[in-house]
Amino acid sequence: MKINSHRILLSPAGQSGGGGFKVSFSESDFARLRSLLSGKMGLREKYLNSRREAVSEYITERCTELRMEPRRYIERLRLDVCDPELQGLLVRVLNGETSFFRNADQLQSMCDSIVSTDRDFPLSIWCAGCSTGQEPYSIAMMLRSDPRLADRPFSILATDVSGRSIQFAREGLYPALSLKRIGEDRHRRLFGIFTEKSGDKYRIKNEIRRFVTFMSHNLNNDPFGAFSVILCRNVFIYLEEASQRRIIDKFYQSLPPGGYLFLGYAESLVGLDARFIALAGSSPLHYRKPFPDMEMEVKRARVRQPGEAQPKKVPDKGADRRIELFARAEKLFEQKKYDGVMRLCQRILSEDGNSARARYLMGRVHAQRAAYGSALDEFRTSTALDELFADAHFWKGFIHFTVGDFVDAVKSFDNALLLESDLVMARFFKAMTLHAAGELARALQEFRVTHDAMKSHTGPLMKFDEGFPRKHYMDMTERYIADIKEAMNTEE
Ligand SMILES: C[S@@+](CC[C@H](N)C(=O)[O-])C[C@H]1O[C@@H](n2cnc3c(N)ncnc32)[C@H](O)[C@@H]1O
Repeated sequence: MKINSHRILLSPAGQSGGGGFKVSFSESDFARLRSLLSGKMGLREKYLNSRREAVSEYITERCTELRMEPRRYIERLRLDVCDPELQGLLVRVLNGETSFFRNADQLQSMCDSIVSTDRDFPLSIWCAGCSTGQEPYSIAMMLRSDPRLADRPFSILATDVSGRSIQFAREGLYPALSLKRIGEDRHRRLFGIFTEKSGDKYRIKNEIRRFVTFMSHNLNNDPFGAFSVILCRNVFIYLEEASQRRIIDKFYQSLPPGGYLFLGYAESLVGLDARFIALAGSSPLHYRKPFPDMEMEVKRARVRQPGEAQPKKVPDKGADRRIELFARAEKLFEQKKYDGVMRLCQRILSEDGNSARARYLMGRVHAQRAAYGSALDEFRTSTALDELFADAHFWKGFIHFTVGDFVDAVKSFDNALLLESDLVMARFFKAMTLHAAGELARALQEFRVTHDAMKSHTGPLMKFDEGFPRKHYMDMTERYIADIKEAMNTEE
């Protein structure tokens, strides 16, 4: 759901206080603002580029009102969460898409995890990047109605950098449209019980509101508290990797041993932080801060080690030998023995410098280690050596998507699909890319095609499904379709 834009508070550009004052928002003004927003809030520069038009429109309106040059206006932005000018701008920049019971299976696994936590400790939950509040209210409703947690006290701190979203959330008043995706069962068991009708809106009852405290907070900057569970879902996709690392580190400090961390479906700690335990079998992944005695047992996300061993030159034993080396490298990759994969690929390349497959596998290792620049280099080399290599095009697209380079991501996924129309995950990530780029109509169409393709896919596994069952992706696709339809209706 999107809250009303700042536009309604202003007169249209040039029609009020502006009186003939001409504003020109230049490329260098935008570059300056982009680097300020990226530095202060951790937003990806590439994401900000995709919001250029909206930013330009807002600054032009505002500067016309204030009769001020954009350069001066930008200099005067305070860039803290209390700055009303920044808050107006953020309405145009941030994507606050959310809904009640979004990714409910994940919220359910959070409840299941909480049941097993020590009852002697107070349960404090932080919902970071909560947008307009549907997420923390859903959590409160689920916890409140779970018989296993009947007498367990809890509190939820819900924060977002958008002050307007926080204001909206505090009101706890939602249009009937918000119910669309809740589903009959959940409506009967939860929403209907914990809300009351107020005209054509629904008000969250006090017995739920009292559990949730809303606060403006910039994850990239402001201090953190201590919590037993942290949820930060669908926020990292908009943040630079350096910010993600910083924030994860602070999350780690804020959790006690055994504390839980939940990220969004498309987000993971792979390559970002090696200290958390990824809880196997959970779909999507969630994480736990280890107890001291668990540390040796855990399977951790592996971060690149400096100074990898140099491969030795091997005598040329021909193509068969290289095929055998490649098969071994692939096996090691499956076992996550990435140093070994790199050594074998280097050996292959020392025999055949034009091996697109070795380059590709090295790219996969870099991608696992979140070394996205190196991964992209390898996938580029791989597709240059063999332009019909669909898998390398797919992964090139995936890296572009991950770093927020949405235009190139779509191109690469299209190339992969051109070569291998059956590559369902390329369709899926193309849809995700269009969604992240804010191209909702195209994303909706692509999610629908993805859903049909997944339904009719005959193979036992979808290539690059990363071990998740097909149902997981189909459910996700359905949710995105519903989310987009709701967002498009809301905007109309
Ligand atoms: C797509 S919404 C996700 C909402 C909710 N977590 C969910 O999954 O439904 C992303 C939210 O992250 C917030 N956000 C972006 N950058 C942030 C930052 N630096 N600090 C705090 N919140 C931020 C945005 O304002 C937006 O409300």
